[in-house]
Amino acid sequence: MESAKPAFEKYVFVCTNERAEGERVSCGKSFCGKELHAKLKEAIKLAGMADKIRVSKSGCLDVCEEGANILFYPENIWLNHVELSDVSAVLEKLGIKA
Ligand code: FES
Repeated sequence: MESAKPAFEKYVFVCTNERAEGERVSCGKSFCGKELHAKLKEAIKLAGMADKIRVSKSGCLDVCEEGANILFYPENIWLNHVELSDVSAVLEKLGIKA
């Protein structure tokens, strides 16, 4: 094993986990996690920041009821109850003017 420097300045982990009907709620099924991931990825690309900020799908972060959930690394900032209409606000928190 080797330690390495991260390839990107920041990572945006968007939970897209899906659970079946009748199970615990999930960001990808009960909330907008999957669409949010796609919209944020596109917005970062349009902002010309795709070489600095990586938007990645995440598995369950175990705060499912607070979904949709986003985690910024390395800031360790958590965003809960994120809606599709919050994309501009998420970009602002990343220091990007939308
Ligand atoms: S399903 Fe997203 S935090 Fe658990």
